[in-house]
Amino acid sequence: MTKILCIGAGYVGGPTMAVIALHCPQHLITVFDINEKKIAEWNSDNLPIYEPGLLEVVQQSRGRNLFFSASDIARHIDEAEIIFVSVNTPTKTFGQGAGRTADLQYWEKTARMILEHSSTDKIIIEKSTLPVRTAQAMENILNTNAKGLHFEVLSNPEFLAEGSAIQNLEKPDRVLIGGHDTPKGQKAVQTIVDLYANWVPRDRIITTNLWSSELSKLVANAFLAQRISSINAISALCEKTGADVEEVSYAIGRDSRIGPRFLKASVGFGGSCFKKDILNLVYLCESQGLPEVAAYWEQVILMNEYQEARFVANMVSSMFNTLAGKRIAIFGAAFKANTSDTRESPALAVCRGLLAEKADLVLCDPHALENARVDLGEDASRVTFEKDPYVAADGAHAIAVLTEWEAFAKLDYHRIFDAMVNPSFIFDGRNILDRAKMHEIGFNVYSVGKQPLLHFKQNSTD
Ligand code: NAD
Ligand code: UGA
Repeated sequence: MTKILCIGAGYVGGPTMAVIALHCPQHLITVFDINEKKIAEWNSDNLPIYEPGLLEVVQQSRGRNLFFSASDIARHIDEAEIIFVSVNTPTKTFGQGAGRTADLQYWEKTARMILEHSSTDKIIIEKSTLPVRTAQAMENILNTNAKGLHFEVLSNPEFLAEGSAIQNLEKPDRVLIGGHDTPKGQKAVQTIVDLYANWVPRDRIITTNLWSSELSKLVANAFLAQRISSINAISALCEKTGADVEEVSYAIGRDSRIGPRFLKASVGFGGSCFKKDILNLVYLCESQGLPEVAAYWEQVILMNEYQEARFVANMVSSMFNTLAGKRIAIFGAAFKANTSDTRESPALAVCRGLLAEKADLVLCDPHALENARVDLGEDASRVTFEKDPYVAADGAHAIAVLTEWEAFAKLDYHRIFDAMVNPSFIFDGRNILDRAKMHEIGFNVYSVGKQPLLHFKQNSTD
C-alpha cells in the first residue's frame, strides 16, 4: 500500500483523487484542504462542486481508501510517499507581472509546508498548471534542506474539462508525466506511470522532460482557446456577409486536418484557466524576449473580450439603443453547461456590460446562482437571482441565453413569449435554440454568426 496525499480539494484535486482511489483500492489516498467547509462538503453527499457522476465515484471509495481532511496536515505529509499539489494558481494581481503571470504564493506556502513536516524522501507532483520552470523553484525550496531529504519533483498536469471531468479522468486522451532524466527522476516517473496504468492504457501515458510537460499544459489550453477565438472572429464576419457560422464550422471541420471539435461559435470562452494560462504563456514569451510570439497569443484573449463586448453592443443597438430600466432575463451564469463554476464566465461579463446600460437583470441558472452571486461582487445587489426561467422571463423585454444548459433549449417558449413585453427579443449566445421556431412564436431572434430573424425592419447604417 502506498500512501498518497493531495493538497488542494478543488475542481481538480477532488475528482482526480476520487478516480485514482476508485481504480487503486490498494493505495490510501487523503485529500487535504485548508478550507474546512469544503472538506465537510466532500465528506457529505452535498459535494462542493457540481460535476455529473462525481458523487457516485466518491461514494464508492470514501471511507475505504479515500479520505478528505482539513486537519492533521503534519501527519498526512509525513506519512505520504507521493504528494500531488493541486492548489489554485490564479493570475497575480499585484507587483511584477501583475495581470499576467501566476500568483505562486499558495504554491510556495505548500512547498514550505511539505518541507517542514517531512522526515522521509518523497515524490512531489505538480498537478496545478504552472509557469515553465516552476518545478525548479520548488526543487530549490525543497532540496536545500538541512534534513538530508530528497524530494523528486514531477509535472503531471491535468487536462480534464469541467462538466465532463469523470469521463475525461476515466478515459483520458493522454496522461502526461514530466520528470528529470536522472536515475531518481526516471524511477519517480515510473512510479507514477504504474499508478495510472491501473486503468489507463500504457500507450496513452506520455513521459517527457519536466519543462516540456509544464509547457505542454499551457500550450494545450492556448490551442483550444485559439480555436474558439478563431471561429468567433469568423462569426463576426458571418453576421456581416450572410454566411452562417455553423455551416462554415461544419464545412471546415470536415477536413480531417482541422477536425470538428472546439469550433462552436459562442458569446466567448470562460472558465478559470484559458485566460489565466494564456496570460502566463504571454508573460513567459515576453520575459524570454519574444514580443512577437507574446502578441500572437495575447490576441486570442483580446478576440474573446471583443466577442463579449460585441454581444452586449448588439443587444443595445437591436433594442432601440436603450436598455435602461428594461427587464432582461439572463439564461445561464455558469461558464459552460454541466458545471456550477462561474469563474471568468462570459455570462457575468455580459451581465456587467448590461448593468452599465442600467438594464434590470434577472439571472437564471440551474446550478450556478450561488457562485454567480459571489463572483458578481458589488454588482450582485443590482441583479435578481431566480432559478425558475419562467419567472425570470415574466415581464422581460429580452432573454439572453449565455450558457448552453440543455434545459434552456427545452422550455415552453410559447408560454414564455406570452408573458413577455412586446416586441420580445431572444439573443442566443450559444446557438442552442431552434431559431425558426422561436421566430414563428413571435420572437425577434439574434444568434451568433447568423442573420437575425426579425418581425420588423432593422435600421441599418451599414
Ligand atoms: P480550486 O480553486 O477549485 O481548488 C484549489 C484548492 O486549493 C482550494 O480548495 C483551496 O482552498 C486549496 N488550497 C490553496 N492553498 C492551499 C494550501 N496551502 N493547503 C491546502 N489547500 C490549499 O482550483 P482548481 O480549479 O482545482 O485548479 C487547481 C489547479 O489545477 C490550477 O492550477 C488550475 O489551473 C489547474 N487546472 C484546473 C482545471 C479545472 O477544470 N478547474 C483543469 C485542469 C487544470
Ligand atoms: C479547459 C480544457 O478543455 C481542459 O482540457 C483543461 O484541463 C481545462 O480547461 C483547464 O486547464 O482548466 P474547461 O475550461 O473546463 O476545460 O472547459 P472547456 O470545455 O474547454 O470550455 C471552455 C470554454 O470554452 C467554455 O466557456 C465553453 O463554453 C467555451 N467553448 C468551448 C466554446 O465557446 N466553443 C467551443 O467549441 C468549445
